Amino acid sequence: MSNQNNSPEDQILVIFGATGDLTRRKLMPALFELEMLKMLPEKFVILGVGRSSISDIDFREHNNKSLKDAYSSAKDQKLIKGFLERLFYLQADTKSEESYIALRKKLQLLRKKSSMQNFNLIFYLSTPPSLYEVIPRLLAKASLNDESEGWKRIIIEKPFGYDLKSAVELNESLKKSWKENQVFRIDHYLGKETVQNVLVTRFSNGIFEPLWNRNFIHHVEITSAENFGVGNRAGYYDQSGALRDMVQNHLLQLVGLIAMEPPASMDSDAIRNETVKVLQSLRPLSEKDVVTNTIRGQYTESTIKGHKVKAYRSEKGISSDSQTETYAALKFYIDNWRWGGVPFYLRTGKHLPTRVTEVVIHFKPTPHYLFAKQEGCKSCNQLIIRIQPDEGILLKFGMKTPGAGFNVQNVSMDFHYNDLSDVRIPDAYERLLLDAMIGDSTLYARIDAVFAAWEFIQPVLDGWKNNASIPLHGYPAGTWGPDIADELIEEADIGWRYPCAALTGDDNFCAL
Ligand SMILES: NC(=O)c1ccc[n+]([C@@H]2O[C@H](COP(=O)([O-])OP(=O)(O)OC[C@H]3O[C@@H](n4cnc5c(N)ncnc54)[C@H](OP(=O)(O)O)[C@@H]3O)[C@@H](O)[C@H]2O)c1
Repeated sequence: MSNQNNSPEDQILVIFGATGDLTRRKLMPALFELEMLKMLPEKFVILGVGRSSISDIDFREHNNKSLKDAYSSAKDQKLIKGFLERLFYLQADTKSEESYIALRKKLQLLRKKSSMQNFNLIFYLSTPPSLYEVIPRLLAKASLNDESEGWKRIIIEKPFGYDLKSAVELNESLKKSWKENQVFRIDHYLGKETVQNVLVTRFSNGIFEPLWNRNFIHHVEITSAENFGVGNRAGYYDQSGALRDMVQNHLLQLVGLIAMEPPASMDSDAIRNETVKVLQSLRPLSEKDVVTNTIRGQYTESTIKGHKVKAYRSEKGISSDSQTETYAALKFYIDNWRWGGVPFYLRTGKHLPTRVTEVVIHFKPTPHYLFAKQEGCKSCNQLIIRIQPDEGILLKFGMKTPGAGFNVQNVSMDFHYNDLSDVRIPDAYERLLLDAMIGDSTLYARIDAVFAAWEFIQPVLDGWKNNASIPLHGYPAGTWGPDIADELIEEADIGWRYPCAALTGDDNFCAL
């Protein structure tokens, strides 16, 4: 990656939405991990901003409680104490211009207090998306985008827009006062170690690349499953649904890395130029394709391991006639020389049997098969890239069953990250926050990629909204989604893989 300088300079990180779930669960632990790894600059201040009327002390105590739960050793307690001293809080109504005058004053005070030579600022927008337009605009109005005394960066959480039109509008507004290199659009999938490993697996090994194309790959399958429901995010999720929440951003970014051409270098633009070409080569889905090549579903009441699970429409905060999909499956093609004619199958959903994200590369069978057919094994050679959990890689191939004749059985070679017992897998937010602090945007989504993903998804959003003949299929919570999703993969003997939590597992029932 193109880090000109691997240690971050002195800076202030401003978190809007500092009392929220994301800050507590992800941002603060990630920052504390960086503290423990001594990767934070000596002069580094975190200023939380929110509407809640709390003091610096309250804000520190709020974070102390959640960090203490996760880090309990005496050594950790000492480090937490030091870390908390970096934290400050400002109560502000982020929609009012005066708040930004107060914010500027507070930042100048903190800069002086910490004797920071430069006025380097990162603004992290961890607020409801409705504020993603307002905050950058009012920051700029208060000259908090001005780089004469130090750089200014802005990190925007997902979702970037609600559809193509709103993403374009949001970008138009941002462009008025922020340069593209100041804007960091987060897609936390790109911060995952195993997602980055897709690049290393593909481009550091001579053995995969010659096979990585339409001549040898039969189809590609991507699954991202959650084994829980909407939880306490009903308000957000019911407006979003599986397609916006998972496909438009995380899973299409993953497709970009799986399908990209080798970049000329590991430079941020070289990599992003290649991933965007993939997204721009996705064959647009026609109205008819939306009917035949997409499936939407919503979980219904069920009993899982003896526990009753509510239907989506009975969840707190969800209307009893909600049309929001909690499951989406798509079949699509990438129209370029490498991938011409290779179908990509993608599915994601809530309340599926297990929590798993993985990519399965199904290789073509041999041109002439010498041995007795293996039952249900048309694409016996599979490379499985497990993003989470049991992170690792598994290769399946046929081997002679010992004994008489030439009977073939499918066996696996597997690598698990856990085998590297002395290596901790950092959380995605740790990597992404550090990258933004350094100014490396490689793992952040560039605007052309965001637009290309919305352009591809938009006909599906429109079709699902306007074409009443496209059913919203119910599926009992705890199953692999609507049965009809099996029909997306039309060829005999080929179906979805049924992954288990363990990488080596592959069984329709293992998680039940
Ligand atoms: N939580 C996750 O796992 C997750 C994952 C991926 C992306 N995200 C994205 O991250 C963002 C934050 O998510 P979250 O789960 O942390 O949400 P949250 O728990 O609802 O927190 C949002 C924070 O924003 C502040 N806020 C709410 N309305 C505001 C308003 N009108 N003006 C100013 N501040 C307001 C609130 O603080 P005050 O009440 O103190 O103002 C609240 O602490 C969302 O855009 C979400 O889509 C979250």
